[in-house]
Amino acid sequence: MPDDSGNTFSMVTCNAPVNIAVIKYWGKRDEECILPINSSLSVTLHQDQLKTTTTVACSRSFQEDRIWLNGKEEDINQPRLQSCLREIRRLARKRRSDGEGGVDLAGLSHKVHICSVNNFPTAAGLASSAAGYACLGERPSNEVGVYPVALSGPFSLCSLPLLSPFSFFPVYTLARVMGVEGELSAVARQGSGSACRSMYGGFVQWIMGQREDGKDSVAQQVEPETHWPELRILVLVVSAERKPVGSTSGMQTSVETSSLLKHRSDSVVPARMKEMIDAVHRKDFAAFAELTMKDSNQFHAICLDTYPPIFYLNDVSRHIINLVHHYNQHYREARVAYTFDAGPNAVIYTLQQHVDEFLQVVKHFFPPETNGGQFVKGLPVASTTLTEEL
Ligand code: DP6
Repeated sequence: MPDDSGNTFSMVTCNAPVNIAVIKYWGKRDEECILPINSSLSVTLHQDQLKTTTTVACSRSFQEDRIWLNGKEEDINQPRLQSCLREIRRLARKRRSDGEGGVDLAGLSHKVHICSVNNFPTAAGLASSAAGYACLGERPSNEVGVYPVALSGPFSLCSLPLLSPFSFFPVYTLARVMGVEGELSAVARQGSGSACRSMYGGFVQWIMGQREDGKDSVAQQVEPETHWPELRILVLVVSAERKPVGSTSGMQTSVETSSLLKHRSDSVVPARMKEMIDAVHRKDFAAFAELTMKDSNQFHAICLDTYPPIFYLNDVSRHIINLVHHYNQHYREARVAYTFDAGPNAVIYTLQQHVDEFLQVVKHFFPPETNGGQFVKGLPVASTTLTEEL
C-alpha cells in the first residue's frame, strides 16, 4: 500500500511463542555463528500467554533501519541484529533470483522499521530472547510480503512492568501451526540460540550439528503439539526482575571455566537426548519428568561450577524443588516436574489430571495473600509456531 508520500509501504505483524527447554542449551563452540556445544530439546508454549509480537514496516521513504523494543528505541547496530538482517536480506535476494517471488529488487534496498513488544518479563530468565528472535523466521504472506520476516531484538536491553512476585502464567493449547523452512531456524539461531526452537510447535530439538558453517545446526520437530494433549505447563513467577548474569555471558564463562560442562556435553547430553526423545514418543511422563528435573539440576550445578559462580535459583526456587520432590514421593511416582532457566522462575510440567491438586498444594505453601501474588488457573500446554496477524 502507498504511504503519505505515495511510496510503497509494507507491514507485517507476527507473534512468536516462548519455548521452555527440558534438555538445556548451555555453551557455544562458535560465538559468532551461535553454534552450541550440545543438542537441546524444548516444548513450545501457547502464545496467547507468553509471546513476542513484532511489526516490521518497510518503505522507500525510510532513511535508515530502526528498532523499538517495548516502545523504546534501541541500537540497530548490535551485531546479532545486523547478522539477522543481513541473512534475511540475503535469503530474500536468493528467493528472488531463484524465481520464487518475494521482494522486488527495489524493495531489497528499502529500510525497515521494527517494533517489538513482549507480554512477559524480558530479562528474568523466561526465554524472552527465544521468542523475540524467533519472529525472524516468519514467512511473508503474498499480500504484504516485502521482507519475509518480522524482526525483533535483544530483549535483555529492555524491561516490561514487573509482575506480581509470585503469579502463574497459564499456558493454553495453541490454535494452529505454521510450517517454517528449516533454513529459517538457522537464521533465528543467529539472533539467539534458543530462538531456533520456537520456529516449530510441539516438541522440538535443536540439533547441535557438526559443520563449521553451522548449516546443520537447525531445529527439528520431534512430535507435534497434538501428540500429548494431557501435558500441561504452569509457570511460577518467583521474580520478574532482570537476571544478574545474562545467558550469553553466563554460558561463555561456563565454557571457559567449568569442567563439569565438558563432561555434560561429551558424556551426558547425547544419551539424555535419546532418552528424552524416546520418553516423548512414548508419552512416558515419569521418564520425561525425571530427565527434565535432572537436566535442570545439572545446568544449575554447572552454573555453580562456573568461576565466578552464577546463582540463578533463589530460596523460593529451592522450596519449589523440594515441594515437587515431596509431592512425587508422596504418590511414589513422578506427577510433576520442575525446570529452571537462567532465572529463579519455575516452569512446572504435569498432566491435566494433577493440575488442580498440585495448584492447591502450591497455594497452601505459597499463599497468594502473603506474597501479593495472583493465581490464574493452569491451562493446557502444548504449542504452536509463529502466527501472522495481518
Ligand atoms: C538457560 O538462547 O538466551 O534458556 O544464544 O546467547 O542468545 P544466546 O543464549 P540463549 O540461552 C538460553 C539458555 C537457557 C537454556 C535453553 O533455553 O536451552
